Amino acid sequence: MSLKIKILLGILLLLLLMQFARIDKTNPPADASKDMITMMKPPAEMATMIKNTCYDCHSNHTQYPWYTNIAPLSWWIKNHINHGREHLNFSEWGNYSADKRQHKMEECYEWVEETRMPIFSYVVAHPEAKMTAEERAKMVKWFKAFSVEVK
Ligand code: HEC
Repeated sequence: MSLKIKILLGILLLLLLMQFARIDKTNPPADASKDMITMMKPPAEMATMIKNTCYDCHSNHTQYPWYTNIAPLSWWIKNHINHGREHLNFSEWGNYSADKRQHKMEECYEWVEETRMPIFSYVVAHPEAKMTAEERAKMVKWFKAFSVEVK
């Protein structure tokens, strides 16, 4: 066997073995009464937009598309979800202090305004998460309204 073939087979074997390390797709329990959307009551259109663009990583309602079965891609995605929830979990909104909520609203409008959120690769994979400049401005405005005063 030539060296090239050996290396190729080695890579294939490694990819195959990786498939055994599956990610955990169980969503943590979510109490609807503590959800940001339940509590802050955005207009229906805004609620849908936030669910479509943020909730896969910033809530306990993550939906896992078919390609999240493929390692190492699945590990990379799961990492985004874990970090996303760690920083901001809209399902835990009711457990945040008033100060923390206000601060998170501020972060939200900043990160959305700077087009850092939703993460670019996520938008590529989720066309429904693509926002027009106008939609983005609307979202920024909605988050901004709460960053000054939490209602
Ligand atoms: C693909 C997963 C993903 C999506 C979708 C996503 N985020 Fe994030 N978000 C992350 C990750 C990962 C971080 C961790 C920080 C980083 O990127 O360094 C983060 C960080 C943040 C932070 C910083 C929080 C803090 O206080 O440190 C804010 C605010 C935020 N995201 C808002 C949003 C909003 C609003 C949306 C929807 C418009 C969104 N994100 C969509 C994954 C995501």
